[in-house]
Amino acid sequence: MMRIITFGTFDMFHIGHLNIIERARALGDYLIVGVSADQLNFKKKNRFPICRQEDRLKIIRALKAVDEVFIEESLEQKADYIKQFRADCLVMGDDWRGRFDHFQDICDVIYLPRTPSISTTELIEVVRSQQF
Ligand code: CTP
Repeated sequence: MMRIITFGTFDMFHIGHLNIIERARALGDYLIVGVSADQLNFKKKNRFPICRQEDRLKIIRALKAVDEVFIEESLEQKADYIKQFRADCLVMGDDWRGRFDHFQDICDVIYLPRTPSISTTELIEVVRSQQF
């Protein structure tokens, strides 16, 4: 039984999000997803997500590939979450390559290639630049 954990904001849910979640699940038998809190995003990016945390969590929970979800309240608690959920493996997109290597003493760390040409930031920019 291989338990996988991954983290993200998953704001304005898009195909890149679905792809990484399905590929993470395929690496094991049980997938746990930490959805970052609105407050945590504000601290990190100086803006709140478009979709609130309860809704982002609800969307992720509804996915067939996802077994368990929780709200990630702080970045400093990552090691605690990995231990608390008894994860064997941490999976992240390769935009994070190298940034989670220090967790290798408590679990495997795998970076998967990002889906090209889509991100929440890019979606916001595209919508913003449209002339209606
Ligand atoms: N991800 C991915 N491919 C994409 C976009 C995201 O594999 N095209 C992955 C990220 O690497 C991360 C997870 O999805 O592991 C959640 O990423 P998140 O930051 O929520 O999404 P982004 O679209 O990258 O958001 P932003 O533009 O705000 O950074």
